[in-house]
Amino acid sequence: SMLVRSSSSAKQAVIRRSFSSGSVPERKVAILGAAGGIGQPLALLMKLNPLVSSLSLYDIANTPGVAADVGHINTRSEVVGYMGDENLAKALEGADLVIIPAGVPRKPGMTRDDLFNINAGIVKNLCSAIAKYCPHALINMISNPVNSTVPIAAEIFKKAGMYDEKKLFGVTTLDVVRARTFYAGKANVPVAEVNVPVIGGHAGVTILPLFSQATPQANLSGDVLTALTKRTQDGGTEVVEAKAGKGSATLSMAYAGALFADACLKGLNGVPDVIECSYVQSTITELPFFASKVRLGKNGVEEVLDLGPLSDFEKEGLEALKPELKSSIEKGVMFANQ
Ligand code: NAD
Ligand code: LMR
Repeated sequence: SMLVRSSSSAKQAVIRRSFSSGSVPERKVAILGAAGGIGQPLALLMKLNPLVSSLSLYDIANTPGVAADVGHINTRSEVVGYMGDENLAKALEGADLVIIPAGVPRKPGMTRDDLFNINAGIVKNLCSAIAKYCPHALINMISNPVNSTVPIAAEIFKKAGMYDEKKLFGVTTLDVVRARTFYAGKANVPVAEVNVPVIGGHAGVTILPLFSQATPQANLSGDVLTALTKRTQDGGTEVVEAKAGKGSATLSMAYAGALFADACLKGLNGVPDVIECSYVQSTITELPFFASKVRLGKNGVEEVLDLGPLSDFEKEGLEALKPELKSSIEKGVMFANQ
C-alpha cells in the first residue's frame, strides 16, 4: 500500500541521509596568520575540504582581501575574514580546529630557534585568546620553532586552567611529506604508495625519519639511507636557501597542513584508524613532548603509538636528538612562565 511504501522510502531516505553530505557535521576551522605565505594557500585548501562548514581567516592585516577571494569558491564552507586583535574573539568563537601559521619565517643562515624571540610572543598571545574563546578546539601549531612553541602553548593553556594534552598538536607533517618524496625517488617506488614515519621534533637533527619502517620496502644501502635522512632533516633549509631571503616553505607546508587538518577533522567525526605523525605531549621517551605516530579521534589524540623497531642508525639518531629537543622544550616552558 501507499502507507508502507512511503514509510519504507522514508526509512531509506534516513539511511541515505546518514551517508550524504547533509549529515557531515558542522565544523568551524580558524586559521591564525591566514594572510601569510602559508596562510593563503592553506585557506584555499581548507576551502576545498568538504568537512569544513565555516572557515575563519584571521591575521593582523590583509584578511578582507583573502577572505573575499577564497569566499567566491563554490564549495561548502562560508568564509569570514577577521583583521586585528579586536576581532580575534569572533574569529575563534565556536572553532573546532585552530591552525596557527602566524609568525616570521627563516631567512638563509638562520635556525628555527632564531625565530623564537618574535614567534614565542605571538604564539603566547594567540593561545591566551584560544583558552578564552574556544578552549575545546584542537590546535595545529605550525609556527616555528615548533619544538618550543608547542610547550609554550601547553603552559599558556595550563595557566588558564584549560590544558587538554589530547588537543595540542605540533604539525610535523611536512617532514613526513618530504621523507615520502625523497624515499620514493631513491627506492624507485610509486610516491603515492609510500609511507614513512618521522619522529622526534621539527628542527635539524631532531627530525628523525624511520626509513627502516618505510613502505613499500626497498633494500637501500646505508649510504643512501644516511643521505635520505640528512636531506629530510635539512629539507626546510633547502627551501629557505632556494628562496634566498623570500621566506621558507609555504606551498608544500600548506599541503602538509591541509593533510594534517583533514586527519584531525576525520578523527573528530569518528572516522576510525586515522593515524598521522605529530609532535604531542608524550610518555614514549623521557621527553615531555615528542613526535611519533598518533591515532586521532573524537577527542584529539586517542593514542600515542610506540616507535616500533628502530635500526641501529635510527637508535643513534634518537639518542643524538634528545639533548637539543630537551633544551628547546625547556626554553619554551621557561618563556611561558617568566
Ligand atoms: P609569513 O610571514 O608569510 O606569514 C606569517 C603571517 O603571520 C603574516 O601574514 C603575518 O601578518 C601573520 N602574523 C604575524 N603576527 C600575527 C599575530 N599576532 N596574529 C595573527 N597573525 C600574525 O610566514 P609563513 O611563511 O607563512 O610562515 C609562518 C610560520 O610558519 C613561520 O614561523 C615558519 O617558520 C613556520 N613554518 C612551519 C613549518 C612546519 O613544518 N611546522 C613549515 C613552514 C613554515
Ligand atoms: C620547514 O621545515 O620548511 C619549516 O620549518 C620552515 C623552516 O624554517 O625550515
